[in-house]
Amino acid sequence: MNNQERTFIMVKPDGVQRRLVGKIIQRFEDRGFKLVALKFVAPDQGLLTQHYADLKERPFFPSLLKYVSSGPVAAMVWEGKDAVKTGRVMLGETNPLASKPGTIRGDFAIDVGRNVIHGSDSVDSANREISLWFQPQELVNWNTNDHGWVYE
Ligand code: RTP
Ligand code: MG
Repeated sequence: MNNQERTFIMVKPDGVQRRLVGKIIQRFEDRGFKLVALKFVAPDQGLLTQHYADLKERPFFPSLLKYVSSGPVAAMVWEGKDAVKTGRVMLGETNPLASKPGTIRGDFAIDVGRNVIHGSDSVDSANREISLWFQPQELVNWNTNDHGWVYE
């Protein structure tokens, strides 16, 4: 386990429209993760095609792209111990109906095509997604910017 592991989390357009961004940020902060990047962006089809490249051949790919490009998204990077795996647990299952209450999808969603949030599924995907969505200078380094007095 790596204390500085990073994961890419994105509140999808339905989550933004339903004003869930604040609640989702709160969950990651409460859990103990550090926010290292955040931006509000209207992703184009090119970016989303790269982001979901693994799913290109799936029948739902066109509707997935239409859904995720239907409005702005909140793109974030969170850092902390086992961030990728724990982030996925916090999200719940791909199909919200299979997600336990207490997870984000289990609390806020019922439809796989409107499942509120994306989270990286492996450390390799996280690194790929973070460099796709963010420039290196947009990522904060907590080791050099974490002023001890905040947590004294
Ligand atoms: P995400 O990448 O968005 O975090 O979701 P995930 O890992 O839980 O699921 P993934 O297999 O990567 O699928 C990406 C998104 O495609 C939509 N989807 N629709 N059967 C379907 O209609 C279907 N399957 C997947 C969902 O929005 C899913 O989150
Ligand atoms: Mg996925």
